[in-house]
Amino acid sequence: MSALHGKVAIVTGAAGGIGRASALLLAERGAAVLAVDRAPEVIDTAALIAARGGRADAVQADCATEKGVTAFVAQAMRDFGQLDIVHANAGILGAFAPSFDEGPEAFAETLRINLIGPWLAIRAAVPHMTRGGSIICTASVAGMRAGAGGIAYSASKAGVINLVQTCAQLLSGTGIRVNAVAPGLVETGMTQMLFDAARSRGREGKIGQLNPLRRSGEPPEIAEAVAFLASDAASYVNGQVIAVDGGLSTSHPFAPRPAGA
Ligand SMILES: NC(=O)c1ccc[n+]([C@@H]2O[C@H](COP(=O)([O-])OP(=O)(O)OC[C@H]3O[C@@H](n4cnc5c(N)ncnc54)[C@H](O)[C@@H]3O)[C@@H](O)[C@H]2O)c1
Repeated sequence: MSALHGKVAIVTGAAGGIGRASALLLAERGAAVLAVDRAPEVIDTAALIAARGGRADAVQADCATEKGVTAFVAQAMRDFGQLDIVHANAGILGAFAPSFDEGPEAFAETLRINLIGPWLAIRAAVPHMTRGGSIICTASVAGMRAGAGGIAYSASKAGVINLVQTCAQLLSGTGIRVNAVAPGLVETGMTQMLFDAARSRGREGKIGQLNPLRRSGEPPEIAEAVAFLASDAASYVNGQVIAVDGGLSTSHPFAPRPAGA
């Protein structure tokens, strides 16, 4: 039997990128999936799952308002009658690099979507996760230390790391585990401009060179970690952050020498 057979999952930010890969993999492993995003392409994610023989529905919602979150959790309960897995993944980049030019409104919007959104999702989902379950948030290596994003983005992802620790403690005795994945550089809608710029300058080979695997990641590689955390194989993993970054976060910056030098 598939690892997630009989489980019901919500995946936010599921219109593309990491969220779509997660929704597809959770469904492939047997979960019924409610795919959520504010972008209309979320419907295509559910259609892809159905085309592969899985069970899925899609809903367009703002994942960072109480109204939106309450509505999509209610929809999951209406569609599938239970809730076991939440992947709170929707996010925005905000300012690309640290700068004091990023004003308070833009800063607040990044915190709203990247940090308040996952908190709202946890808060709304928990009362329905009566059989225990697994909540996974998408953090980032940017939340571990500086150098991988703007100030608001990095602060929001640092907040997500503490959010999963604090909520894991708060949910003591419930059988609900709360963890995060922290991706490194992955080619998605969020990072497309970086990849496009590097390719247009003939510098594609430089992408991801700061990690020991010397390449960027693919959305399905992040989804594998999500599916592990969602499954009973991770039954004793709680309050943790798993970096899926080719080893990027294991070192302070240095100039790598060629292999064998
Ligand atoms: N791509 C990377 O290199 C990388 C690295 C580390 C972390 N992440 C994180 O991974 C997560 C997924 O991002 P991605 O890389 O797949 O980018 P993406 O832009 O392809 O996906 C993000 C999705 O979130 C949705 N979204 C944004 N705000 C929303 C809102 N308020 N309500 C509903 N949906 C909303 C977008 O429509 C989009 O479909 C994000 O949290 C991001 O911060 C990405």
